[in-house]
Amino acid sequence: MAADQLSFQILEQVLGNRPLRYFESIGSTNDVAQKWALEGTPAGSVVIADEQRAGRGRMGRGWQTPPQQALAMSVVLRPTIDPNHLQRVTMLGGVAVAEVVRTYVTTAIKWPNDILIGSRKVCGILAEALWQGETLKAVVLGIGLNIRVNFVGTPLEGIATSLEDHATQPISRVKLITQLLDHMDYWSARIHDPLLVATWREWLITIGQHVHIQTQQGMIDGTAYDVDSAGALLVVDAEGHKHRVTVGDVRVG
Ligand code: BTN
Repeated sequence: MAADQLSFQILEQVLGNRPLRYFESIGSTNDVAQKWALEGTPAGSVVIADEQRAGRGRMGRGWQTPPQQALAMSVVLRPTIDPNHLQRVTMLGGVAVAEVVRTYVTTAIKWPNDILIGSRKVCGILAEALWQGETLKAVVLGIGLNIRVNFVGTPLEGIATSLEDHATQPISRVKLITQLLDHMDYWSARIHDPLLVATWREWLITIGQHVHIQTQQGMIDGTAYDVDSAGALLVVDAEGHKHRVTVGDVRVG
């Protein structure tokens, strides 16, 4: 059996009673998890795939998960949370991933939730909320972590990286999955705790940097000076005008 193999049996052994769906190849783990959440699967249920053929990223982008080279995992959460604080789910994902990646290599979070090694992205996080009318039924937290994807010669060279390129030992996705779920459980139980926001803030390299942010309303250039408790990035531009950015793509420089 190849090293770092994933299978339902292997995962079932380490995940115990946690509801699990595993796919060798699937469109998007977030799609499966959403459907499963609507069918009533409990919080903590996890969908894992070795390959995604139609992985989704933030802001309508795609996400590559080639077989045996990455981790694609979606967790069903059922937070009792004020809709204005939904960003806390993304925060808990970012903090959990950063804490685990840190056990292998130095890492940081670029606002809102890109996990970086140096200046390159190793992991993306996509939280998708499921509503029934005004009621939040669930949030699916999707994590895409590059383990040994080779970006050389691709448009992502210089922008994306893989964990194994920086770690001193080969990476076991099974071990990573158990580490990630432990950290996600820990922070899920503390979603209302101000410590979550404070910890996420500590991880953010974006604060204090000069940034260009592409938002739906246009480009904002300025200095990111803080985040607020709802997760928005606070930016002051050259004229001294303050901006509160809730969604956007940050470029530093
Ligand atoms: C980003 O754009 O930074 C977010 C990427 C999120 C990718 C993960 S991979 C597992 C889950 N399934 C998806 O289709 N997307 C997320």
